[in-house]
Amino acid sequence: MWDNVFKNNKYLAQLIYSMIVVILIPSALVINTIYLLRSFSRDMDYELNNKALLVESVIATHLVDKLENEAELKSVLDDLVADLSEIRAIEVFRLKDQKNLSFTTTASLTRAVYDPVLNHLAFSAGKAFSKEIYVALGGKPAERMWLVASPMYGQAGTKIGVINTYVSAAQIDEITQRTVNDSIKILLITLVFILLLLINHFSLFERAVAFIKLKEVDDLKDDFISIAAHELKTPLTVIKNYAYLLGKNEHIQGNGEMLDEVNKIMLSSSRLGVLVDDLLDVSRIEMNRMKLDEETFNIGDVVSNVIAQLTAEAQNKQLALVYQKLETPIYVSGDKNKLEQIFINLIGNAIKYTLQGTVTVTHELEKKSIKTSIKDTGIGIPPDKMNRLFEKFSRVFNEKTKYVPGTGLGLWITKELTAKMGGKIYVESIENTGTQFSVVFPTVPFSTSSSENTSGPSPAQAPAQANPQSTENTDA
Ligand SMILES: Nc1ncnc2c1ncn2[C@@H]1O[C@H](COP(=O)(O)OP(=O)(O)OP(=O)(O)O)[C@@H](O)[C@H]1O
Ligand SMILES: [Mg+2]
Repeated sequence: MWDNVFKNNKYLAQLIYSMIVVILIPSALVINTIYLLRSFSRDMDYELNNKALLVESVIATHLVDKLENEAELKSVLDDLVADLSEIRAIEVFRLKDQKNLSFTTTASLTRAVYDPVLNHLAFSAGKAFSKEIYVALGGKPAERMWLVASPMYGQAGTKIGVINTYVSAAQIDEITQRTVNDSIKILLITLVFILLLLINHFSLFERAVAFIKLKEVDDLKDDFISIAAHELKTPLTVIKNYAYLLGKNEHIQGNGEMLDEVNKIMLSSSRLGVLVDDLLDVSRIEMNRMKLDEETFNIGDVVSNVIAQLTAEAQNKQLALVYQKLETPIYVSGDKNKLEQIFINLIGNAIKYTLQGTVTVTHELEKKSIKTSIKDTGIGIPPDKMNRLFEKFSRVFNEKTKYVPGTGLGLWITKELTAKMGGKIYVESIENTGTQFSVVFPTVPFSTSSSENTSGPSPAQAPAQANPQSTENTDA
């Protein structure tokens, strides 16, 4: 289905495409930013936690049983700071009892720097917390660091204090720099991508504007056709009536040449009348103003009626018009006149595009629907014209159709009306052999049908059959 929509609406497809591009690019940028921010915070947390874990594990493996020994603890912490350049200082707080804390710090710190809030958070939540902090070490200017407060566990696995690790910001800055570099790279790639898209499709936006303008022109055209067709209808009726009266005039009837002229006026005004009606239908359908009645009726009656109307036309061309009638009524729901119009178009076409042979109309009952087929032995349709058959003003132009009058609106109107009544239309054709159009409409159970012949058997009780025997053959 989308294939067709896109094929028919080139501009619409391009408009949708440009909208996707417009939505995709900012989305890509937002996703990129979110991804980078998340990976940055993940990398940073990872690095900081690693340092804190290192200090924690050193204390846990070597010192937990000797925490009372201030001197030993201090010397191990000092060694750790000396070995790992990015760890600039360490503080260890140990809860001695409810009120008292023991406090050990590395030589690099001249005084306790800790953040009581961070300590409290780490201790009560049992996990590490960090913040950026400026600390002056050994009389040097203040240096930017990350303070990681992590809980300290005793041998029994209980929390016994907090370790504060001061990590140099230099390494973290490296991570930041790496993330910024990554971000710039991705941004550049995205920009190149956008640029390529814009270079390749810069005309898309122009086309979007053109599409809107085309739509306006199309609407204007629809309005024009609708008004023009309405305005044409009145004078056309007047011409037809006068021509009819002239044809009845005894002077003219006595003059063969003049009668011929009058008949030509009648024929031309009738053709013009059909064209005006078709144009009005097109404009009503396109503006969604086509009103359809909703009634339940026997589809066989409608087809019989159309056959009766077109018999003379088939006879004029010496064609056999065969109708294989339904054995029992089959009910469908919708607009009776529009269904009649559908069959007039299809059977009319079959007669129009058949030079010799037969036009056969048959019914085939399906589970919950009825298929009506119109088969002819006519000129057929070239395979390459089949896919555009149901488009407006689409006609096959060749030697055989050169002198056949028509506007190419009939099948489009037929397709639209069929769809509006919940039906489907199919076509099969072999060039120079014949064509078959089929329409399928949902059937209505007999009991819910309206005032039609209610004394007949219900199709549910006695399933109706298309009866090949009861053939109405209006063979010319
Ligand atoms: N039964 C058929 N056999 C062969 N060609 C057909 C048949 N029905 C339709 N066509 C082809 O499809 C084209 C479109 O049909 P459509 O009924 O829309 O237009 P039309 O008959 O040319 O004009 P009008 O608008 O007056 O009906 C025709 O011009 C014809 O070439
Ligand atoms: Mg037609």
